[in-house]
Amino acid sequence: MRSVCAVGWGLSVVLALGLGAMGYVFLIRGNVEPYADGRTAVLLLPDERNRVLGEMRGLLEAVQEITVAAAQGDMATVAKSASAVGMAAAEAESPQMIAKLPLEFKRLGMSTHKAFDDLAAFAGTTDDRLEVTARLGGILDNCTSCHAGYRLGLEDADKEK
Ligand code: HEC
Repeated sequence: MRSVCAVGWGLSVVLALGLGAMGYVFLIRGNVEPYADGRTAVLLLPDERNRVLGEMRGLLEAVQEITVAAAQGDMATVAKSASAVGMAAAEAESPQMIAKLPLEFKRLGMSTHKAFDDLAAFAGTTDDRLEVTARLGGILDNCTSCHAGYRLGLEDADKEK
């Protein structure tokens, strides 16, 4: 009886460790490998990579529109362009793809969308162009930090190297 119990406990420990390891891979580490230039490559399927890059081009368009609108003092356009890349824009992502992103990547990505929502709300309450520009500059810190640390690779192609 005792030895059966010991086996049961042993199995539970192995299972718990296994689940812990899966949790680590899916929630924290993501599907990554080191890349030659020092960045971390996040490995995705071709469609997923194309979607993320499309989202990135949308972010740059928003930055362009916000910069022009802020310079003209057009806060309604600042708010509209910033909300277009707010949290709502991130909600369509598939859980499978999100599981491949490292925790820090998800954190930077989400805080960027959230910061655009905050900027949209702020633009509705101010006509201070410089403050809007300064806040946009703060958001751009997220862009540059993430770009300094990560690139996007393809799951199969990049794994074989
Ligand atoms: C959470 C990480 C992250 C954040 C935040 C982020 N990016 Fe990116 N971005 C990436 C990665 C990774 C790539 C792909 C780089 C590579 O593979 O070399 C990329 C690529 C791009 C590209 C190229 C798209 C293409 O079609 O090749 C643009 C433009 C871009 N980002 C703009 C932005 C802007 C503007 C912001 C901020 C408003 C931003 N990104 C924030 C991770 C991020």
